[in-house]
Amino acid sequence: MKRPKKDRVTPERLMQFGFAYAPPLIIGAAASNKIFDSLQSGAKTVEEVSQETGASTRGLRAIMAALVGLELLKKDRRQKYSLTPESEAFLVSNKPGALAGFFSLNVTQLVSKWLQLSDVVHSGRPAQAVNQEDQGTEFFAGLVENIIPMSYATAQTLADHLKLAKTKNKIRVLDLAAGSGIWGIVLAQNSRNVQVTAVDWAGMIPTTKRITRKFGVANRFKFIESDLLEADFGNGYDIATLGHILHSEGEDRSRQFLAKTFRALKSGGTIAIAEWLVNDDRTKPLPSLMFAVQMLVNTEKGDTFSFNEIKAWLEEAGFKKVRKLQAPGPSPRIGFSFAKRNAFISSDEKSENEIARRKTRFLSETGPAQRRVCPGAQRSKIVCRRFRRPALAF
Ligand SMILES: C[S@@+](CC[C@H](N)C(=O)[O-])C[C@H]1O[C@@H](n2cnc3c(N)ncnc32)[C@H](O)[C@@H]1O
Repeated sequence: MKRPKKDRVTPERLMQFGFAYAPPLIIGAAASNKIFDSLQSGAKTVEEVSQETGASTRGLRAIMAALVGLELLKKDRRQKYSLTPESEAFLVSNKPGALAGFFSLNVTQLVSKWLQLSDVVHSGRPAQAVNQEDQGTEFFAGLVENIIPMSYATAQTLADHLKLAKTKNKIRVLDLAAGSGIWGIVLAQNSRNVQVTAVDWAGMIPTTKRITRKFGVANRFKFIESDLLEADFGNGYDIATLGHILHSEGEDRSRQFLAKTFRALKSGGTIAIAEWLVNDDRTKPLPSLMFAVQMLVNTEKGDTFSFNEIKAWLEEAGFKKVRKLQAPGPSPRIGFSFAKRNAFISSDEKSENEIARRKTRFLSETGPAQRRVCPGAQRSKIVCRRFRRPALAF
């Protein structure tokens, strides 16, 4: 008997997964061959881009056509290619929210490690351990500036939520695993009363210092060069930010780290955690499930966690009122946990369709006067599409 059409399984979805590695590699190659930068000054033919960038016409013809398919370039009747609003906002390298460097880095630093995934799954041991200071410093020094767009809008949401712009009192912020320093930078941009202590490995602090100077807030920062579990944080802080660090630390170290952060905060202080959250059943969302594989490949004990797991660790440490804060982020659900003393886990839990429709804005690094399209919203949109039309559609 013939199966009804709607119940028939086809290999289409799996075949699409077979090529799912292509879009990030195409975007990375286009960024490193300066295709987006070249088109910033106007529409061009393949030959014109070749002349300007030095890339081969054969290579450009293939890759630029694929970028049209990915809706990151447009092509007109005169065979000229131009940027779309999305590629213009995020893939031209001199823009504040640029993700071009992130894609190039993805290819050079991460894809090569993912090629070892089969062995990693078999042995349970990572291809590299960026949670270790020696390997991690080099890796993160290349990464942190490229992921600023992922957290800028989220940090601004935190600043708004805490009404920092209206505070009259001095606010002491402890920016833990500071990296670029973006959490402290955004909070400092919101109020002259904010003073930040940034903690990171010694080899990373010169990068943090450089970026705080670039944003014009270096004089509001102090630095502690140390591993998180060895550092003396001091105490009496009003706010502690933990941006994208629990996932690489893993459960045991995260719990110790949260207990230590509790002791560093004053009574009534706030901890804010940004994370890739999974649901309680660990069945979605897909970006957070895949990010857990990223942690499998690149760290010794890293993982992604649910809101309730992190909430339990926060409460164990003594925090109260653990809750989620809606914030634009890189996946439909990321976590902020504000807690002590008060805890928030940043969360973007709008329905996937709502996220797709949403036009969130984020403040550019030059401050509240300039606004651009939020990268989190864009990526959420991409993720939604992937749910509707899997694989090559992203
Ligand atoms: C993914 S980056 C996040 C940076 C920043 N908080 C953000 O949200 O963009 C992780 C940062 O944590 C730092 N880091 C990782 N493990 C650490 C440890 N055990 N002690 C101190 N710093 C650490 C890395 O050097 C890196 O700067």
